[in-house]
Amino acid sequence: MESPELNPQVAHTARVYDYWLGGHDNYEADRRAGARSEQVHPHVRVTARQNRNFMLRAAEFCAEQGIRQFLDIGTGIPTEPNLHQAVQRIDPTARVVYVDNDPMVLAHALMTGTPQGRTTYVHADVRQPDSILTAPELLATLDPTLPTALSLIAVMHFVEDEHSPYDIVDHLLSALAPGSYLVMTHATPDFGPEMAEVERIYHESGMPGQIRTRAEFARFFTNLEWVPPALTTPHNWRPTIAPPAKMDSQVQFYAGVARKV
Ligand SMILES: C[S@@+](CC[C@H](N)C(=O)[O-])C[C@H]1O[C@@H](n2cnc3c(N)ncnc32)[C@H](O)[C@@H]1O
Repeated sequence: MESPELNPQVAHTARVYDYWLGGHDNYEADRRAGARSEQVHPHVRVTARQNRNFMLRAAEFCAEQGIRQFLDIGTGIPTEPNLHQAVQRIDPTARVVYVDNDPMVLAHALMTGTPQGRTTYVHADVRQPDSILTAPELLATLDPTLPTALSLIAVMHFVEDEHSPYDIVDHLLSALAPGSYLVMTHATPDFGPEMAEVERIYHESGMPGQIRTRAEFARFFTNLEWVPPALTTPHNWRPTIAPPAKMDSQVQFYAGVARKV
């Protein structure tokens, strides 16, 4: 595969997110965009952490339902625990395919799982779903006859309408066996004006972004069977401890898990 260019001069969504999570894999342009976003939305770090915690709880839920294959698109720069660590703790034979389009994530693509399971990485863009579905690494790792958890965590808000995000998710799901799950989070303007301001800063910094309303988020789950509590926010999805009420205005994301029947 051709080695993709890493451009430190232009902010990238993976590295801005890494900055909010307190990581060290970010450049000046990423920190500038991240800090500007924090000025207009002081709770972006809380949002990032709650989003990440939801991802782990939802992946563990899928593993507890017997899912042994995971396709995580928009993986991000590794942040422990990663998805494969969470699910391989439940079953060491679980297989995980990570996908991202950021060269920095590719540089970290040595995430190793258990010897019994398998963890692999595909450098691809979710806007070209066939490049993911036909990737040799994926074909060698996932059995299409077995159910898979497709996780799209904080990634589809980087796919603007002109790239047909609903068709992309439908197409990915159509390749998965019945009994598969869709696990997803997405930024929204529904809980306050702050996230729209973050979107504006992303655009000004050269990054894509399209936040979506509740109805627009729900549309990704058309024809799927919701897992209780259905469409909610990351911190309110099966929390291990009750979240403080103030988080409802701070975490401006939707979250949901649903099953393909
Ligand atoms: C906000 S981070 C979320 C990381 C991780 N899923 C999490 O929630 O902790 C968004 C990730 O999506 C990736 N991403 C953005 N646009 C993408 C695209 N078109 N194709 C693949 N990955 C993309 C970014 O590189 C970044 O790693």
